[in-house]
Order: sequence, then structure tokens, then C-alpha cells
Amino acid sequence: MNINWEELKFSYTETDYIVRASFHGQWKDGQLVGEWTEPFATQDKILPMHVCATALQYGQEAFEGLKVFRGVDDKIRVFRWRANAERMQRSAVGLYMAPVPTDLFGKAVKLAVKKNIAFIPPYETGATLYLRPLLIGTTPKLGVGPGWDFEFVIIPSPVGPYYKSRNAHTGNASIPCQTFIVNRHVDRAAAYGTGQLKVGGNYAASFRGTEAAHLLGYDCLFLDSRYHRYIDECSAANFIGIRGNEYLTPRSTAILPSITNNSLMTLAKERGLKVTRRHIPLEELATLQEAGACGTACVISPIDKVIDPDKNITYTLSSAPGPVLMELRQALQDIQYGRAKDKHRWCTIIN
Ligand SMILES: Cc1ncc(COP(=O)(O)O)c(C=O)c1O
Repeated sequence: MNINWEELKFSYTETDYIVRASFHGQWKDGQLVGEWTEPFATQDKILPMHVCATALQYGQEAFEGLKVFRGVDDKIRVFRWRANAERMQRSAVGLYMAPVPTDLFGKAVKLAVKKNIAFIPPYETGATLYLRPLLIGTTPKLGVGPGWDFEFVIIPSPVGPYYKSRNAHTGNASIPCQTFIVNRHVDRAAAYGTGQLKVGGNYAASFRGTEAAHLLGYDCLFLDSRYHRYIDECSAANFIGIRGNEYLTPRSTAILPSITNNSLMTLAKERGLKVTRRHIPLEELATLQEAGACGTACVISPIDKVIDPDKNITYTLSSAPGPVLMELRQALQDIQYGRAKDKHRWCTIIN
């Protein structure tokens, strides 16, 4: 294995092992009854499955994303895996799948880390080990409806920063600003659809917006699908705005509850900021001093501009990463890398 950690992008690098567990059950009186096997590690990355598997036919699929850090003290920390387990359980229930119990999820995460220790990037390379938990329906079915067999997989991959070189519109080289473009012709998720769940269909549905934006060198800002008035999500990240002492983030029935955003809200409150979650009209961008996109992959990526091509308006935020969001980014990373006290017990140390 010869990995140049500094050169890693946010893309897949195969590791030695993935971890798998299977569920076999049946539906009885509207309840899915069955059992999960113990998780096991395997070097085989191919999942044999029937062509009629419900994941393939009807998108019965959910996934997650979390990171493993090698700290300043050389300890290995997994960040808030329980929150990912719980979010995946909500996605499972939402798509009529068998939820992966928290203890099974935790065992699988630990096994995935231990079996791939050599793939956890060294401290200060800017790279981390990303874990991609995946839950898919494997029952062969042609009739429309949920299956009763599921496969849970954890796919590890060392990754570099999410926004490294894709968008070079920017100032700071290490934490580049991103420019977003509004698209009123593509909705990521319906108001009462599956936007709050981390399910594959949301992402496939968003590609028309994200890929159109990438062609222009931007990222896609999704508005609420009902009125096309309020900010929903920044591609695959939550939106944060800073105005004076206030941390603003959208309240919406269609956005993914980001674990990064949740952590940053806690850190913001601790620093005396007022945290407000509400509908944020697009025009309010004109009143913000700072804005950013946040998520596991990018942590916080500052936004320099938002272009609204339909109205011929460009909202200019700042040409360089703003101080408030950069302080919060630093505070979060200090916890993840073991440089600051983890008073909320967000990190699990793997021995
Ligand atoms: C649509 C969407 N929004 C927000 C996020 C950020 O969530 P988290 O901070 O839990 O990674 C993600 C990434 O998981 C996402 O895919």
C-alpha cells in the first residue's frame, strides 16, 4: 500500500476490508419481524444480489457518512457514530427497511476501523478515514412494495478534503470559498418527501441540479420545493448564515438534519451566539456577513457568492473565509483531532 495522503481527494480508495451483516425476516401484520446476523469483515467488495432486489428496482436503500480521525495524541477517534446510527434508523423506517440496531452499528464501525488501521491517515495530512454505512433491500421482487431481506455494509475509504481543487474561484487555498447557483427548475426533495432521510433517491434526484452547477464551476443551492422562496440545502450540505451575533440555519421538512450542523450549533451557543432555525428567504443573503455549507465531508466551506440567474442577482458574501465560521470550524476540528476537551463526548476512541 502506497498512499500519498496529502494528494487524496474526496473519492473512493479501496481498503483491505469492508464489514457486512444481513437481515432476513418477514412482514407480519404490518411489522417486519426477523434477525440480524453478527457483523463480519470480508475482503470481497462484490455483493452478489438478485437482479430484482428491491434496492435495484425501487431504490430501497439508505446510507450514511462519518469520519475517523487520527489525533494529535495518535489516538483514533470516531466522531458521533451513534448520531449516524440513529439517522440511519430513521431512514430505514422511512423506506420500510429493517433498522440496524445501534449496538450492531457500533460493533460494525469498530470492526471496520480495526481491520483497516493502516488506512487511517496520519495526523496533519488533512486526510481522514471516511466510513460509508450502506443499507440495501435484497429481496427479489417485481411487484411494487418493500422487501424483507436487507444487507448492511460499511465501506471505509481514506479521503482528502471535499473542496480542494474543484472550484478555484477563491481566496484561501486551504479552505476555499464556494460559489453557489440557485436552480428553481430542479427540486432535491419534496416538502413532505424523503428529504430528511439519507436515501439514495434524493441524491440521484439532485444530480440534474448539481451537475448543471458543476459545469459552470459552481455548486447548487436548492430552494424549498413548494414556493422556491426559502433556502433548503447547499448541494449535499446544510446552509449556515452569520449576521452579527446570530447563527442562522434553515428549518425545513425537506433537509437532512446534519450532524455537523447540530454540533456547530452547540459550539455556537457555547460561544454566546444566538442560534436561530427558521425559514430563510433567499433575499436575506443580502443581510448576512458570512455564509457557509456544512457537513461531514466539507466541515464548513465558506460561501463567497450566490448567483440567482432567474432574477439576475448575485449576492456577494465575502471574498475570504469569515472569522465566526472559521472559529467554529476550528473548534469542531480541535475536538475531532483531540486538541480540545471533548466535553460532549462526541468522540469514541478506538484502542
Ligand atoms: C443532503 C445533505 N445535507 C447535509 C449533509 C450534512 O450532514 P452531516 O453533517 O451529518 O454529514 C449531508 C451529508 O451527509 C447531505 O448529504
